[in-house]
Amino acid sequence: MDVQVCFAISLVALLAVVDAQVPHWGGCPEPSTQPAFNLKRFMGRWFEVAKLPAQFEKGRCIETNFTLTSEGSALVQSSEILKGEVRKIEGTAVVEDQRNPAKLGISFSYVLPYTPYWILSTDYVNLAVVYSCTDVFRIFHVDFAWILGRDRTLPGSTIQRAKAIFMENRIDVSRMIASSQEDCGRTVRNRAVFQSSL
Ligand SMILES: *[C@@H]1O[C@H](CO)[C@@H](O)[C@H](O)[C@H]1NC(C)=O
Repeated sequence: MDVQVCFAISLVALLAVVDAQVPHWGGCPEPSTQPAFNLKRFMGRWFEVAKLPAQFEKGRCIETNFTLTSEGSALVQSSEILKGEVRKIEGTAVVEDQRNPAKLGISFSYVLPYTPYWILSTDYVNLAVVYSCTDVFRIFHVDFAWILGRDRTLPGSTIQRAKAIFMENRIDVSRMIASSQEDCGRTVRNRAVFQSSL
């Protein structure tokens, strides 16, 4: 790719990231990730239970459905409810480092670079602890963290365990907030009621 185009795209991506999150000084932490990560077992539906606040995610009932498309890549379908409407986006996840398959990259547009999506820990059936960090010349870094569940909510003890995993890896999750997973069927139900009354 043309160097200038590449630079322009990086700059746009960078500004988008910086705008969304508070930067921290220094390079990204190097957390440990899920050993022997099995992408296939990670597929399916995950709900966002808690996260570090990010400006580009304002909706509620955020969930992601991963579908294996080939060995080492997956279709990513995320949805949220924003202002009473279900919004969906599609992207691609790839294993970026064959030696460490828990280090995925996700891109929601072919013009954007893959952003890191690292599975720090998962049991595949209840909980996934996910981290994303981008650094800028190791001068500062911007990060995102999510606690995902196979159910819309997780027991408090499980959330504490997930937070401990972040903290053991020197990731600050003091600003982590619970994601709203309430009334997620309402929009759909209302529409169904409305239609059946016609
Ligand atoms: C997830 O995607 C697969 C493949 O497209 C589909 O069969 C399945 O119904 C989806 N699950 C949910 C909960 O959307």
